[in-house]
Amino acid sequence: MIVCLRTVDVPADRRDEYLAWIAAGAEVRKSHGILAELVCEPTRGDTVVVTVWPDHVTFDGWIATPERDALTASGAGASRRPRRASRLPCGTMAAGGTALVGPFPAGADSDEAKDAYDRLRRRVLWTMPSGLYVLGARDGDRLNGMTLNWATQVSDEPKLLAVSVEKPAFTHELLLAGRVFTLNVIDREDRAIVRKFTKPVEVDRAARALNGFPYREGTTGAPILVQAVGYLDCEVRQTVDCGSHTLFLGEIVDAGFNKAEESAVLRMEDTRMNYGG
Ligand SMILES: Cc1cc2nc3c(=O)[nH]c(=O)nc-3n(C[C@H](O)[C@H](O)[C@H](O)COP(=O)(O)O)c2cc1C
Repeated sequence: MIVCLRTVDVPADRRDEYLAWIAAGAEVRKSHGILAELVCEPTRGDTVVVTVWPDHVTFDGWIATPERDALTASGAGASRRPRRASRLPCGTMAAGGTALVGPFPAGADSDEAKDAYDRLRRRVLWTMPSGLYVLGARDGDRLNGMTLNWATQVSDEPKLLAVSVEKPAFTHELLLAGRVFTLNVIDREDRAIVRKFTKPVEVDRAARALNGFPYREGTTGAPILVQAVGYLDCEVRQTVDCGSHTLFLGEIVDAGFNKAEESAVLRMEDTRMNYGG
């Protein structure tokens, strides 16, 4: 049996059920967004649709449509056992409830061809090397830290850093309101950290800790993780609406190392995760 995990939006109360499928020997095919590894720590509790095909099962993060004849696997009265559905190609929709995203190349006219192209494009996107960071944000008394890999320097005069943040994220709200952020560069030895920052964190002000990780306030007031190798402390100068995400351009107002400069730092390729695509 092949289980296609197409979404990160697995409700926490169904976690064990999903893990049971995997434990039962299912092959987990990485197909979309954030992958199997994160199913263990789901970030949101959206409706999940389970569609059963003759030879595999798909878990999808959108509301069932009549054509798909799929089972809405959460919500009142939903059965715990998936039932068979009409045979449609796996993944004619993208995770999150949106249709496949074009443009499509000439000749990709059928749903199957579009789906194949969508998967191909995603795989190419995922080959792009990137770092993996914890983005700190603050608005007044509200603090957060969020796992992020879409970050890059975009100008050296002024010193501008760009981070792209999902609109539904709590961090997005903080960035719009507080207009400051820190980019925490993570030690490769600390890769487990990134799984702790995929949903709004628990802030312990007395202990000055985010999800148990000690922090101090940067020049801007945004949190700097004490165990980060280094940090860039930024004030937001511009925002660019990119559709699903907003690009925040921050001017670096402070930077520093917390650990030895030569420490190996975390990159996406050091994990089994992907994002976006
Ligand atoms: C490996 C990985 C990379 C991620 N990269 C980004 C990113 O670049 N931008 C983004 O908006 N979310 C990214 N996320 C998703 C956020 O961490 C996630 O949506 C989180 O729930 C947002 O947290 P918040 O609601 O606490 O702000 C990534 C997640 C993982 C696991």
